[in-house]
Amino acid sequence: MIIGIDGPAGTGKTTIAKLFEEKYNIKYINTGAMYRALAYKCLQNGIEKDNEEKILEVLKDTKIEYVKKSVDGKILTSIILDGKDITEEIHRVDIAPIASDISKIVKVREYMVDLQRKIANEYVKSGEDVLLEGRDICTVVFPDADLKIYLDADTKIRAERRLEELKQRGISQGLNLEQIIESIEKRDETDKNKTVGALKRTENQKYIDTTNRNIDDVITEILEEVERIRKC
Ligand code: DC
Repeated sequence: MIIGIDGPAGTGKTTIAKLFEEKYNIKYINTGAMYRALAYKCLQNGIEKDNEEKILEVLKDTKIEYVKKSVDGKILTSIILDGKDITEEIHRVDIAPIASDISKIVKVREYMVDLQRKIANEYVKSGEDVLLEGRDICTVVFPDADLKIYLDADTKIRAERRLEELKQRGISQGLNLEQIIESIEKRDETDKNKTVGALKRTENQKYIDTTNRNIDDVITEILEEVERIRKC
C-alpha cells in the first residue's frame, strides 16, 4: 500500500508519519528532507538560491540517503547527505525558505521525484507499505496512491506547533510567534504557486483539518481509512 500525505508546513504531516512508522511498521519517506538537504548543501557552498545552473551542478554531485536507526526501541530516520548525518541541521529555520525556493526549479523537482519513486518502489517490491509526506505526493509523485490525504490547519496554530518543535530541538532562540507566522505565510505562498509540483488538493483525497484536533484522533481517522482500503 502507498499512502500519500500532502499539506502545508505545521499541519502534523511529519508527526503523524513518524507515529505510523513506529507503531504500524509502515515505511516512511519525508520528501521535504530532500529539498532541505540540497538547500543546506547550497548554503554551505555559498550558492545563491536563484543560481539554477550552479544548484543543478551541485545536485548532480549529491547523494541523499535515508538511514533507519533503532534508538531505545524507536525507529528514527536520519538524513545522510554525501555520507554525513545532517538530520538536525536541516531543521534550522534558515533552511526552510531556501528549500522552498529551490523546490521551484523544475529540474530539481524531476530529480527528487525520481528518487522518491525509486525509494518507495523498492519498499513496495519487498512487500512493505510506504507512506510519503510532502507537497506533491498525491498530485505528482504517486497520483494513484492507495490512500491520498490532505492535511490542513489554521496558520496561527501551525506557527505555534512549529515554534514548539523548534523549542524542543533547542533552536528557537530569538524567534517569536509573529516571525514564524510571517515565514509560514511566505512559504505557503511559494509552495502553492510553483509552476510544477505546487501544493494543491486533488480528487479522491481525504481532507483533514487538524486545527482543533489532537494527533491520536487524526491517526485514528487515517487508520480507519487504511482499514477500509485494505478490505477493498
Ligand atoms: O515539509 P518541509 O517543510 O520539510 O519541506 C520543506 C520545503 O520543501 C517546502 O517548503 C517545499 C519543499 N517541498 C516540496 O516542494 N515538495 C515536497 N514534496 C516536499 C517539500
